[in-house]
Amino acid sequence: MKTEQAEPSRIVVLISGSGSNMQAVAESCQKQEIDGDIVAVISNRPGVAGLERAQELNLPHQVVDHTEYPTREEFDVNLMRAIDEHSPDLVVLAGFMRILTPDLVRRYKGKLLNIHPSLLPKYKGLHTHKRALEAGDKQHGVTVHFVSEDLDGGPNIIQALVPILDDDNEHTLQQRVQTQEHIIYPIAVKWFVEGRISMLKGDAYFDNQALPENGVQLN
Ligand code: GRF
Repeated sequence: MKTEQAEPSRIVVLISGSGSNMQAVAESCQKQEIDGDIVAVISNRPGVAGLERAQELNLPHQVVDHTEYPTREEFDVNLMRAIDEHSPDLVVLAGFMRILTPDLVRRYKGKLLNIHPSLLPKYKGLHTHKRALEAGDKQHGVTVHFVSEDLDGGPNIIQALVPILDDDNEHTLQQRVQTQEHIIYPIAVKWFVEGRISMLKGDAYFDNQALPENGVQLN
């Protein structure tokens, strides 16, 4: 638990695209709902909308372009260097579309969060909305989880459920899921900076109680 005098938590956000989740977390920090500051937004792609959003939000931002490195390992070494310059308490993946090396995951173990647009462990990987529709699911959603070496497999912290409507298509479903993303990511970050959630031996804990497989569920 943080003490009264503690400095705001230092948060580094990694993006690859539009950055709407980064913005949701940033606005919660700026409204002081989260006792944290985004000290850097790092994109692996130049010219993305998320960098413009960061600029508008007056957040320090930079690019570590993965195409400039011959291997995933070399990219991640440079990415870690860039992250470490900001001495983060927490690293937030917000639409960061790169598979991370085990070295990177281990380095930020317990302080690396991701958001994934499905009710994990269902639909790891890509095209989650399409897959939920094609399966005829009645319910879909989004998950914030701790990152482990197992892709989209780290322990869940919080999920929001989104009903699938008869006339839904990928776009309408994605939009309703994204509305929930912008609610649950700031909640998870707030819990983290308040010391309420942690990862221990591959399980997520909330107020020192092991969370169930789904994490905390909102609907
Ligand atoms: C979100 O749908 C998130 O769940 C997924 O990537 C997307 C990022 O959107 N991991 P944005 O860049 O935050 O707008």
